[in-house]
Amino acid sequence: MAKKIRILCIVGMLAALALVVGCKSSGGDDNVQTETTDAPDGERKQQPVTPMPTTDPAIDYSDRDASDMSLKDAYSEYFPIGVAVNSWQLEDSTTMDVITKDFSTITTENEMKPDYILDHDASIKAEDGMPEIATDKMDEIMSMAEDAGLKMRGHTLVWHSQTPDWLFYEDYDISKERVDRDTMLKRMEEYIKKVLTFCKEEHPGVVVAWDVVNEAISDNQGGGYRTDSPWYEVIGEDYIEYAFTYARKYAEEGTKLFINDYGLNGKDKRETMYDIASGLFERGILDGIGMQSHHDMGLVVDDVETSLFMFAQIKGINIQLTELDIHNNDNSDTALAEQAELYGNLFELLLYMDKNGYADITGVTFWGLNDENTWLTGHRKETSYPLLFDKDNKAKPCYFAIYDALKES
Ligand code: XIL
Repeated sequence: MAKKIRILCIVGMLAALALVVGCKSSGGDDNVQTETTDAPDGERKQQPVTPMPTTDPAIDYSDRDASDMSLKDAYSEYFPIGVAVNSWQLEDSTTMDVITKDFSTITTENEMKPDYILDHDASIKAEDGMPEIATDKMDEIMSMAEDAGLKMRGHTLVWHSQTPDWLFYEDYDISKERVDRDTMLKRMEEYIKKVLTFCKEEHPGVVVAWDVVNEAISDNQGGGYRTDSPWYEVIGEDYIEYAFTYARKYAEEGTKLFINDYGLNGKDKRETMYDIASGLFERGILDGIGMQSHHDMGLVVDDVETSLFMFAQIKGINIQLTELDIHNNDNSDTALAEQAELYGNLFELLLYMDKNGYADITGVTFWGLNDENTWLTGHRKETSYPLLFDKDNKAKPCYFAIYDALKES
């Protein structure tokens, strides 16, 4: 992607964002930086937006060999590269070798979600009436990560999905009434306290980031809060603020706390995320925005750029791509080359933003190791080929395109 054209785009983008952010902060939010800046090449930001260039012609990757390459090493100067895994993959030494060659962080795809950690029987029996957790699996996973020198992103504490219904009911019994707000806040605090205290005391230094609140923003036009979450229903919209307050209180010092969501390249969700994150960041209880980044072949990299620019207006905020994949139902050479171009362009953008200080990108995690194990095949109800490696853990064209982005940017 030609740098000059990108600079011109940035010039226009800054102007547009200054306008949007300026309007949105008219209520007197003086933490938001709205001052005008010169473009890197000295051109004024009033420059009209120039269309992004078309992508490079398809490159033939067929004779490339990834065995001596390592994405985590290649990107170490910029940001860690991570991957979502399941414990069986960590237990398998061949798979573990594949993981540790290219990735320095892992996220458990499911096993650190409330559904997997909360212990129903123990919660019912608890004398203080507070939720109890089962730590065996988490302990095992964290030990394996520790032994392999991998850091972890914790995923996730407060979410409407993969969280047992019983958590929200009296006596943890769904045939009874929902509990009141105060009880639910106590349960939330206790859950967060138990999970984070376990991590801090048993495996200090392993979990470096937590997705504290996941998918809190509505998909409806206009964005706003997701109102069909039991957390929202029982506590109200300040459940997010409480979750971050408790997470900060109990997390190990230095653990970065994220709000995480999908669809953040759309205008409404992007703006809602900006509003929520800027308030929490200002109060010191949030460190970053996680952009899940579940894309498909229609990905428009310019839209990612707009979001990165907007979020980076919150000065000092971390931005991570936390669940990256590009859904693609075609395993032909042509489709894989197109997918490689998209991945390459996306990483050129990330590098460009990070290198030039336009955004503090502090991590990129792929949502799965290889095409055989992707969640998308189930979720999309069609076979998907979204990831860096094929079913035999052979590097796909997109792997090399991401590698080559380092030369281009
Ligand atoms: C998905 C997992 O990949 C699946 O295995 C599981 O069945 C459902 O959840 N957003 C998130 C992730 O934050 O936790 C989801 O993970 C994918 C969408």
